[in-house]
Amino acid sequence: MIRRSVLLGTGSALPVRSVSNAELAETVDTSDEWIVERTGIRNRHIAGEGETTATLATDAARAALEAAGLAAQDIDLIVLATATPDQTFPATATIVQASLGIDDCVAFDVAAVCSGFLYAITVADSMIRSGAARNALVIGSETFSRILDWEDRTTCVLFGDGAGAVVLGAEDSAEGKRGILASKLHADGRHNQLLYVDGGPSTTQTVGKLRMKGQEVFRHAVTNLASVLTEVMETAGMAPTDIDWLIPHQANARILDATARKLKLAPEKVVMTVDRHANTSAASVPLALDLAMRDGRIRTGDLLVLEAMGGGFTWGACVLRV
Ligand code: UT7
Repeated sequence: MIRRSVLLGTGSALPVRSVSNAELAETVDTSDEWIVERTGIRNRHIAGEGETTATLATDAARAALEAAGLAAQDIDLIVLATATPDQTFPATATIVQASLGIDDCVAFDVAAVCSGFLYAITVADSMIRSGAARNALVIGSETFSRILDWEDRTTCVLFGDGAGAVVLGAEDSAEGKRGILASKLHADGRHNQLLYVDGGPSTTQTVGKLRMKGQEVFRHAVTNLASVLTEVMETAGMAPTDIDWLIPHQANARILDATARKLKLAPEKVVMTVDRHANTSAASVPLALDLAMRDGRIRTGDLLVLEAMGGGFTWGACVLRV
């Protein structure tokens, strides 16, 4: 018997307020033309009063539970990826747990910035396969609008807020053909000054603002993503041509195009949401996954590859048969 973590349901949540490039250009020295040409972004959602990383995560989790046909009490593990927690501690995962009314489960946050969802799903999968959990909620949720320097046009136009969630369940079968088939994670801390927040509890006692050397991050992203995708497909015993849908981290449409070209993957197989959500960090992969599940593009039996790269640097990829 092979135990796998299978995908039981997905969900997502976005803040009510939607902000176009044109609206942004009223207060930031930028233009719709520049943003679309350099990034593919046309729109983003920005959290308003009362909307936080935990409230968005809870809404996404509820939608995923409903899609999975499970009750909140069926969940015995919550792993939440975020770089913008409601508080320094406790973990936002425990706030979500309480909001969902789950009396007892394992709940913790994972900090790997834009790769956070890949780290979170890999940890949840390991715990499910080891028998430590049966039904897991894996969430990526962010409110990056609250750590942006709105005076810095090189970064503030790039990000948005939102949350995505999946429910994974343990399944034992003779062949183990569906569920998470392989995953690979990497980190290289030598580059942590290329994308970071200039504050923190132990250093400045402030939250800090996001800083990024965009061009250098771009260069590393294309190389690292192509290499981890090749690596994870080899581990799964497959080739990039076997991929039905690539669900990438949504940082920049040009990165997605370049990665697809490097892997000789048809652009139609890449799920693209950066135009409407911008970069939502750890939320971007589960948000894109939920969108493509709900619009019927992804069907039972399809082979998905999720991938992301972000601050640290951290990066990773995961092969999943629906
Ligand atoms: O999620 C984690 C991973 N993050 C990423 O992967 C982000 C990776 N990086 C990128 O996506 C791109 O590097 C950016 C979108 C951030 C920047 O695009 P770029 O093509 O590398 O532009 P650039 O930084 O070389 O800037 C080109 C010009 C500059 O003007 P000069 O020096 O050529 O006169 C900038 O000052 O564009 C200017 N510029 C802007 N103009 C209008 C920078 N930001 C803006 C702006 N509006 N918002």
